Amino acid sequence: MTTSIVRATSRRRFLQFLAGSPLFASGAVSAYAAETPSKLPDPMIWAPATDDLIKSPKDAINVFDFEPVARKNVPPAHFGYMASGIDDEVTLRANREGFLKFQLRPRRLNDVSKVDMSVELFGTKYDSPIFISPTGGNKFFHPDGESAVARAARVGNHLQILSTSSNDSVDDVTKARGAPIWFQLYASPQWEIAQALIKRAEAAGCPVLAVTVDRVGGRNQETLFRLRRSDTRECNTCHDRSSFAKRVVRRHNYDGIDLSSITGSGESSNLSWNTIKRMRDITHMKIVLKGIVTPEDAELAVQNGIDGILVSNHGGRGEDNGRSTIDALPEIIAAVNGRIPVIVDSGFRRGTDVIKALAMGAQAVGVGRPYLWGLGAFGQEGVERVLDLLRTEIRAAMQQCGVHSVKELNPSFVRRAT
Ligand SMILES: Cc1cc2nc3c(=O)[nH]c(=O)nc-3n(C[C@H](O)[C@H](O)[C@H](O)COP(=O)(O)O)c2cc1C
Repeated sequence: MTTSIVRATSRRRFLQFLAGSPLFASGAVSAYAAETPSKLPDPMIWAPATDDLIKSPKDAINVFDFEPVARKNVPPAHFGYMASGIDDEVTLRANREGFLKFQLRPRRLNDVSKVDMSVELFGTKYDSPIFISPTGGNKFFHPDGESAVARAARVGNHLQILSTSSNDSVDDVTKARGAPIWFQLYASPQWEIAQALIKRAEAAGCPVLAVTVDRVGGRNQETLFRLRRSDTRECNTCHDRSSFAKRVVRRHNYDGIDLSSITGSGESSNLSWNTIKRMRDITHMKIVLKGIVTPEDAELAVQNGIDGILVSNHGGRGEDNGRSTIDALPEIIAAVNGRIPVIVDSGFRRGTDVIKALAMGAQAVGVGRPYLWGLGAFGQEGVERVLDLLRTEIRAAMQQCGVHSVKELNPSFVRRAT
């Protein structure tokens, strides 16, 4: 071996070591590691673009194929908003790495030529366990925004949860989906605003209110802030960020609501169990809490008459707590003990990821970034293909596990790796 080959090989080994080490897997190191053959948890977050990007949705082999195309199409600041975690992004990576802690125990010889992937949530049947997690401002990624996502969700009959901060209004998105959707609530610090949003969602026919309880403080979105610096456009030209009311001008769920009382950034810092009780008193919608990550809070949710729990760490975007949702899920399922439905999101990218959560006892699994990658890459068709790939992988994983229906999955199909 020549000296230069030896040096290159040992550098690659060193970078692979760094990329694999939880102590060093920072954003910067991940970007370096993209030069190496090592497989990152969420490949290509902000790494240099490859030159063999897919040209059409049908070329995609897995959901990750859409991310570098979205990276190319979407302005750096908007891409950074989507990709970012918090601080060291430990939670962001843990969400992917968490699946490595669990293994499947497939069963054989069960004639799986017919597989039923459908699930039922609060009396409504969906054709698969995958749902659309709420994400704000989808027009950051494609001019067709949340309505395009809704049309794609309609194709596969997926549940869609719409963000309070969506660009398209809950009425428009319900129309595009062609069926009722769930509404995610950012309560804001002002009760009157929460009340007005709840009334809007109820009037639009939403059967379920998913109240987000894990965004109550400020956050350091380092990847967003770094990528924003590389954006040559002037953000203030499109977004007047001088007040909350001005910032949400294109977020149409807020239309007609008086926002002048919000002086800060609008986070729901004063949210408490009492606020949830007040919500319970003014709406017939079922209430699901989004962002529960401990069995203690799951127990309190049941005691407070909550209808369901969405185990979520906001895709590693709330606080950098360091724990994946797949790791937290079993103890929450145990605490709830079947009294109310538990659904989950954060880091799900593969059919086998989904099967692991369903086997643990989750009733459905949400995705956030994957459909935004599809949207940013190819609009509605991209989202359709992302959902199609996930369904294909889930079906195959169910067949390989020897189950005919989601109901047959139980904890015996999964074990914690030793
Ligand atoms: C760009 C982006 C915007 C988001 N906006 C919201 C939101 O408005 N409300 C909310 O409750 N969660 C929001 N989330 C969190 C998602 O609902 C979901 O919990 C998360 O994306 C799941 O993790 P994943 O992206 O790894 O699939 C957002 C996530 C992303 C990536």
